Amino acid sequence: MNHKIKSFIFKTLDLLPSKLGFGIYHQLQKFLNRNSVHYKIKTNDRSFKEALQILAEADIELKDKTVLELGSGWAPIIPYFFLYFENAKNVVTYDINEHYDSKTIVKLNNYFKSTFNIEVATEKGNYPLPHPISYYPNKNLAISKTLSDEPVDLIFSRFVLEHIPPNDLEKIHQNFAQSLLKPFYILHMISPSDHRAYDDKTLSYYDFLKYSKEQWKQQHTKFDYHNRLRLPDYLQIFEKTGYEIVSLHYDTCDVNSEKYRKFKELTLHEDYTHYTEEELLAGSINVLLKFG
Ligand SMILES: C[S@@+](CC[C@H](N)C(=O)[O-])C[C@H]1O[C@@H](n2cnc3c(N)ncnc32)[C@H](O)[C@@H]1O
Repeated sequence: MNHKIKSFIFKTLDLLPSKLGFGIYHQLQKFLNRNSVHYKIKTNDRSFKEALQILAEADIELKDKTVLELGSGWAPIIPYFFLYFENAKNVVTYDINEHYDSKTIVKLNNYFKSTFNIEVATEKGNYPLPHPISYYPNKNLAISKTLSDEPVDLIFSRFVLEHIPPNDLEKIHQNFAQSLLKPFYILHMISPSDHRAYDDKTLSYYDFLKYSKEQWKQQHTKFDYHNRLRLPDYLQIFEKTGYEIVSLHYDTCDVNSEKYRKFKELTLHEDYTHYTEEELLAGSINVLLKFG
């Protein structure tokens, strides 16, 4: 969907009382996601393979281990991958919203049966999930200290951190550090680029760096919040909260590319002029952290 239409819809929903706005937003998202579950499986699969490579480089094995996912999204695709392909013991998945949808999960279960011959043995509950997967929606881990009783071996997030305000990011990492048995690892996959550029090819992936904080607030809503943090900002949060950076990978931008040309056309807001070009352009950040 074109980002201008999307933005118009989000801004309209943002004017409604929160409960009503979120209600309509969820229905809309469910409808769109039910029809894109196969596409989502493919893109999650790409990320999962990248994640496995990073974990293998650090000699991290997940057989019989517990994974905590931050930011469950619309369907338990990554939890299924950990469970059925890496033989994790269980996966607990937390989200600040409740985006899961039974019809989408049934589609996912059918896909696992038809493609991998894996029968997802579902339990009775709100959603047709297998027993080793526990879904905790509507939980803000910046506030709630209640985490799973299980020792957690790996925390995983994909395309979530960029949607969390910086103060909450700090609190969430402090909460993990205080509540979980040590040592544990965290693998974050972060997309720091301007998400509007995915739908609008005329926009630079860095377009939002031209706005002041106030101007950016006018451009987006609680439904499409992006913190615009750059690579060093994330690293600073992880270091401040006591995490060791085990590995760090990110994309750079080829100076001969269209992407770079569009970046150079931008006039950066002064909030971003103190970063180096590499820090500003760093995309698809994959960072493996260790605590304890
Ligand atoms: C872009 S989606 C990514 C979902 C999924 N990880 C994926 O890769 O498809 C971002 C998700 O993060 C969730 N989220 C945003 N802020 C969060 C927070 N503070 N704690 C937990 N989840 C959060 C959103 O509700 C949403 O489900």
